[in-house]
Amino acid sequence: MDLLLLEKALLALFFAATVAAAISRLCRKRFKLPIGPIPVPVFGNWLQVGDNLNHRVLAKLAKKYGDIFMLRMGQRNLVIVSSPELAKEVLKTQGVEFGSRTRSVVFDIFSGEGQDMTFAVYGDHWRKMRRIMTVPFFTSKVVQQYSRCWEEEAASMVEDFKKNPQASTSGIGVRIRLQLLMHNNMYRIMFDKTFEGESDPLFVNLHDLNIKRAVLAHSLAYNYGDFIPIFRPFLRGYLNICKEINEKRLQVFDFFIQERKNVIASSTNKRRDHQGLRFPGIDHILEAQEKGEINEENVRYIVENVNIGGIDTVTRSLEWAIAELANHPKVQKKLQVELDTVLERGLQITEPDTHKLPYLQAVIKETLRLRMALPLLVPHMNINDAKLDGYDIPAESRISVNAWWLANNPAHWKDPEQFRPDRFLEEESHVQVNGNDFRYIPFGLGRRSCPGIVMALPMFCITLGRLVQNYDILVPPGQSEIDTTERAGQFSLHILKPYKVVFKPRSI
Ligand code: HEM
Repeated sequence: MDLLLLEKALLALFFAATVAAAISRLCRKRFKLPIGPIPVPVFGNWLQVGDNLNHRVLAKLAKKYGDIFMLRMGQRNLVIVSSPELAKEVLKTQGVEFGSRTRSVVFDIFSGEGQDMTFAVYGDHWRKMRRIMTVPFFTSKVVQQYSRCWEEEAASMVEDFKKNPQASTSGIGVRIRLQLLMHNNMYRIMFDKTFEGESDPLFVNLHDLNIKRAVLAHSLAYNYGDFIPIFRPFLRGYLNICKEINEKRLQVFDFFIQERKNVIASSTNKRRDHQGLRFPGIDHILEAQEKGEINEENVRYIVENVNIGGIDTVTRSLEWAIAELANHPKVQKKLQVELDTVLERGLQITEPDTHKLPYLQAVIKETLRLRMALPLLVPHMNINDAKLDGYDIPAESRISVNAWWLANNPAHWKDPEQFRPDRFLEEESHVQVNGNDFRYIPFGLGRRSCPGIVMALPMFCITLGRLVQNYDILVPPGQSEIDTTERAGQFSLHILKPYKVVFKPRSI
């Protein structure tokens, strides 16, 4: 059976090669394409460059081919943009033309074939979903309403570390505890719900499914199915696992949605106060469903987008920041001095304080510069043929802005490989996180930029601030530093090995 399949695939491959070569000859006549390595039929540049096209590999290729270059990966065109000027062109000036998302076999599954917002093509559906999600999740009112919760979650983590004797001696891992904190932060906004601890069975199940989804979606293992569609039958096993995990996650989301529906149904105080935003985010989403603006699937995938967009990015960034502070005690000391000076001794940082702490903000900016959570943003796509920098960009090309390279290119930054937050108080003091300078766009910019920035920054400031106020964060005994080797996936950047750090209580 498998041999028959292989035989058919090879025949189809030969046929596709001939057709592709003919088409590419025709195309070359018509299009002035960005330069790049010379592609071979069928595989294009895939065998030359491999499929681990992470931010560092692409930065190397940019040095060779320039600020815009094209890779032909099987049947897919990948255009990589590596200068602030071209990033501006893609994200802002031609934001509509390049404002869609590429399709992918795996993301089609995890987005319910475009039922969500993050992976939706640019158009009416995306506009509607983004509008509906904005009031309950992405405004400063949400920050006002929930910052007290985020402060409580940070305080609870600080207390947990105090109770654990290993935290102040041999050191403890932080990843799962940060995941718990972020699940609580986001589930309080969505459902007014918290998990009781790392061993709460609901948290264990949800966390496990969210991690599995992230691993499957960010893996490089399925690329060939996107690059050369006739290879897709070989991906059947992988795609079945994706479907299974997706279904299980949706069932968990359904549980929370139904629980909230029951509360609403039994409540005498019917529904929400829009201006005051006193009710959890899901109420607003369910109201949009009742009005017929969105359907049940959209509701489920909104919950999915908040899980993926909100939890993993902030958790991973906090994980990087803690590791960098352990490795840079002088930076940590300076941060403690700022917190001790600006806040009255003993007072714990709250959201309004975060605006008065420039060094804390600089530490966060530097973490997001050097260890950008989404170094290539989320891939963009042009639905129609387009022009960029004088080149023709064929319709449905995948456009990756190498935001990490923009923020780490030595041509634009002093000693970019160093973790040096002071740069944001000195030579880069004008640079803000909201994208006022196209060399620094960790949240993207323009139509598809991150709407979660409004909550991500205060959560980041409060959590990191509380840890540093209460503890000296140290490398464990017998170790010279935390290993900060990177692991880059499809478009995410994680720390490779979960690490341990010591939290030595400070006398406040
Ligand atoms: C999109 C970064 C936190 C929700 C994005 C994009 C980036 C990004 C780079 C893609 C921009 C583009 O394609 O041009 C980050 C970083 C975060 C963070 C670095 C934290 C450190 C959050 C949070 C949420 C969130 C807390 C809350 C739910 C989203 C959504 C999108 C998005 C829904 C898709 C927007 C669209 O396609 O229209 N984020 N994000 N993010 N982010 Fe975030």
